[in-house]
Amino acid sequence: MNSSSHIEINHTPIWAQLHQHQRATRYMHMRGLFDADPLRFKKMHIAIDGILLDYSKNRITQDTIDLLTELAQEANLQGWMDKMRSGAIINLSEKRAALHIALRQPETANVQVNGHNVIPDIHRELKKALAFANTLYEQTHLGFSGQPITDVVNLGIGGSDLGPQMLTQALTPYHGKANVHFVANVDSTDLLEKLTQLNPQTTLFIIASKSFSTPETLLNAQTARKWFLQQGQKSDIAKHFVAVSSNSNAAIEFGIDSNNIFALFDWVGGRYSSWSTIGLSLMCAIGEQHFRAFLSGGLAMDEHFFNAPFKQNIPVLMALIGIWYNTFYGAHSYAIIPYAHALRRLPAHIQQLDMESNGKQTGRYGEHLDFDTGPIIWGEEGVNCQHAFFQLLHQGSRLIPSDFIIPINSHYQFAEHQETLVSNAFAQTEALMKGKTAAEVLTELSDLPGIERDQLMPQKCFPGNQPSNSILIEKLTPFNMGQLLAMYEHKVFVQGIIWGINSFDQWGVEYGKVLAKQIQPELTTDSVLQRDSSTNGLIQYFRSHYKK
Ligand code: F6P
Repeated sequence: MNSSSHIEINHTPIWAQLHQHQRATRYMHMRGLFDADPLRFKKMHIAIDGILLDYSKNRITQDTIDLLTELAQEANLQGWMDKMRSGAIINLSEKRAALHIALRQPETANVQVNGHNVIPDIHRELKKALAFANTLYEQTHLGFSGQPITDVVNLGIGGSDLGPQMLTQALTPYHGKANVHFVANVDSTDLLEKLTQLNPQTTLFIIASKSFSTPETLLNAQTARKWFLQQGQKSDIAKHFVAVSSNSNAAIEFGIDSNNIFALFDWVGGRYSSWSTIGLSLMCAIGEQHFRAFLSGGLAMDEHFFNAPFKQNIPVLMALIGIWYNTFYGAHSYAIIPYAHALRRLPAHIQQLDMESNGKQTGRYGEHLDFDTGPIIWGEEGVNCQHAFFQLLHQGSRLIPSDFIIPINSHYQFAEHQETLVSNAFAQTEALMKGKTAAEVLTELSDLPGIERDQLMPQKCFPGNQPSNSILIEKLTPFNMGQLLAMYEHKVFVQGIIWGINSFDQWGVEYGKVLAKQIQPELTTDSVLQRDSSTNGLIQYFRSHYKK
């Protein structure tokens, strides 16, 4: 599809039909849907090797799914999937392919970008990175004083931090000998808290920056270098600093040895880059064999995504159901609730993946999108969140769909903990769906005197009908983590295609960066300020209270 033939999705008959369908079904309660059809779970779940999606606890009928898949067809989802897979330029504003899926392909594959097969390049860089990472994983890489490197610090932000950090945490049982740390924030606390525990002789820094121009990362890298040079010599830097970047010139200019630069390709977006050399920190943590298993998990999800019919396709269904609430119900947010301490950074990673991809109100051809697009993604690990914000999910006034991500098996031998954790997850999805009726509450309160009972009864009712997907994962293995991550990437892609968004650029984050650059010198000089009165006032106040 090109701009001349592109359709405005919200002006299509199927869009109107979906609005009509929402109006006709909006008072339907999921409790009734379950009562009416004992086979609802059977009909509304999909299980593939290692992962199950139960989407039955949603405000949908088979008609809803039929209409939503028609919407996907109207948006030419299949055509865009084919384009992505073939290496076509689908990131139109940056004139690039979006080919993170190629990173999961075997060496025998052939994926062409501008007439060039990129698979050999990918595997060359992957092998180089894995071979290097294994020396950290096995602690055979020696620092300048001859001692083995014990600690690896990833200096990166956004996509150069969140994915690798989340995965490194999720896969702790697979860690080798390296202690892997992550520093993202330019707030010196982040870096110094790590450095105070470390020894320059046994520490290696990975400067992870696709652009090698992100000021926060570069400042952290400069400070880390100064810290290192308190003990090491300039000539020792090569043993202790490496870079991952698609801008090797900038990395060399920074002082990184050209042999210590791991390349990454311009057709990999930052938030999709954990599979690439940006995953070097993760490779150091889990070693080659487990990193390859992670790639295989991603590939398995790709094969499911590209081959399963839309109605049996996990990422497609998740995307369609998300659109149902977001666009047709007007739900503003979407919660990601992993029932695993090891997945505590998953909400943050999905937040970037989804919000930086689809947080846009302009379509891929520059047109204004006159409907709600990307939701606010938020979340926290279960069960902790039950004791924090679940009150609002159960009895608040807002529609908040959610994903419950539930590993079935723990790596640790505390069965009672795992069973308590999982039963809580299942209980929450049941309570959110069913709610508690006035009649049920009245029975519980039958011993109370009339007035007290009448006041308490509505407060103890739960409206229910709060939707959730349950995503069961066999165990938090590298393979399953690959599946999970690729599943969300494809979900976000499908939503972007249907809304008509380019999910692979991020112009919205640039403006603030430009202003920050202008404001920084104004903080410490007495130049005349010419901003709005609020920003001027804040700068003035800072100037008068700041002690350098
Ligand atoms: O500011 C947003 C962003 O551009 C993200 O898209 C990206 O993941 C992050 O910054 C880091 O970028 P880089 O890897 O180029 O330092």
